[in-house]
Amino acid sequence: MARSDAPTKILLHESEIPTHWHNIVPDLPEPPPPVLHPGTGQPIGPADLAPLFPMALILQEVSQEPRIEIPDQVRDIYRLLRPTPLYRARRLEQALGTPAHVYYKYEGVSPAGSHKPNTAVAQAYYNNFECIERPATETGAGQWGSALAIACAFFGLECTVYMVKASYFQKPYRKSMIQAYGAQIYPSPSDQTAAGRRMLAEQPDSPGSLGIAISEAVEDAATHDDAHYSLGSVLNHVLLHQTVIGQEAMRQMEIAGEYPDVVIGCVGGGSNFAGLAFPFVGERLRTGRSTRILAAEPEACPSLTKGRYAYDFGDTVGLTPLVKMHTLGHTFIPPAIHAGGLRYHGDAPLLCQLVNAGIVEAVAHLQNRVFEAAVQFARTEGILPAPESAHAIRSAIDEALAARETDERRVILFNLSGHGHFDMSAYDAYFAGQLEDYAYPAQAIEESLKHLPAVATST
Ligand SMILES: Cc1ncc(COP(=O)(O)O)c(C=O)c1O
Repeated sequence: MARSDAPTKILLHESEIPTHWHNIVPDLPEPPPPVLHPGTGQPIGPADLAPLFPMALILQEVSQEPRIEIPDQVRDIYRLLRPTPLYRARRLEQALGTPAHVYYKYEGVSPAGSHKPNTAVAQAYYNNFECIERPATETGAGQWGSALAIACAFFGLECTVYMVKASYFQKPYRKSMIQAYGAQIYPSPSDQTAAGRRMLAEQPDSPGSLGIAISEAVEDAATHDDAHYSLGSVLNHVLLHQTVIGQEAMRQMEIAGEYPDVVIGCVGGGSNFAGLAFPFVGERLRTGRSTRILAAEPEACPSLTKGRYAYDFGDTVGLTPLVKMHTLGHTFIPPAIHAGGLRYHGDAPLLCQLVNAGIVEAVAHLQNRVFEAAVQFARTEGILPAPESAHAIRSAIDEALAARETDERRVILFNLSGHGHFDMSAYDAYFAGQLEDYAYPAQAIEESLKHLPAVATST
């Protein structure tokens, strides 16, 4: 039982930054489905990915090792942002009148304002190590673009960012920030790539989507010798790098003298969710603990709750390998909701495998309830959350209110993946009553799923 004088903020020393990343793959009940070549439909090997990624990252992508050592240079840079604090949300608990204990791991203390540098630093390190001069990437909310721009600045690399057009105009200061760190940035769809030009010809006022921006960045990397592609979510190695979050949180919960009954994260592609949850999922699978693991997504882009578990492209144009995931169809362009980082048609294959196996639960939220939770959190805990992270807050509050109903001391842990300081136009729209509660119609999803690639192994 936590004492009433127990700390509100649990901090670790820099020496407690994890030395290894936690690989969930050996913990899984079944091996992950293979990744398929977009042309042949056959499983691909490391050599097929070599034009896009450094070999060290490709090997991490397929690794079966339970623990992968974090290079010293990466840990050195992690010292600038890690360990991040774990908070007990006492004031929120009080406001909710709940017997639940609510904890949150706050990743917004990084220079980018989110969890994204945990993988950006690692990716820039391996690109630099293998003499790649220019990572090219997409960004939705701008958090990932900022993180990669900072990481590239640390290693003296160039950086090109394709930013989803809806976010580019909603968040002009993210663009300025990315430029301040020295990266080149284009609103996507852009006229820089064939994929972008085709999209612009079809729909000149396209708000863009992560799927389109990924197509542009992949094309850029594939057609330029100096460039490689860098992805801020979805892939196994990205999720792997984020597990520093959950490992630290485990230690911090131990200091708090509690273990979570439920672990929650928001899901765009799955990286902050996996970062917090995978070490707990691993422990649950190894020890039979009953920890619930809950993924929160937007109703406007409900891939986990309404998508189909099938092989699909990771991008809109169909340039990437085929991965098995919950997908709304790669041609699906979500409405321009304010949680830009959650507007992706698919999700990380490792997360989807866990959802499909019933190990991870998923829930979808409408954006007004999400902002209501964000504001309640800001007014009690003081931190103004990113709209993406506010999906996790919504779920945490719902769990705390359910615990009040049953008078149960549920221990809730969620990932506060970032702050919302660049998202004030979203808050403005919420306060002006201009946010639409958009649940993507089932019929539109069915239509988009008609464009799934035909793959023999798909179910
Ligand atoms: C603060 C924040 N949280 C969450 C996400 C969603 O990404 P992921 O699901 O990979 O964590 C983003 C993406 O941009 C983000 O900026």
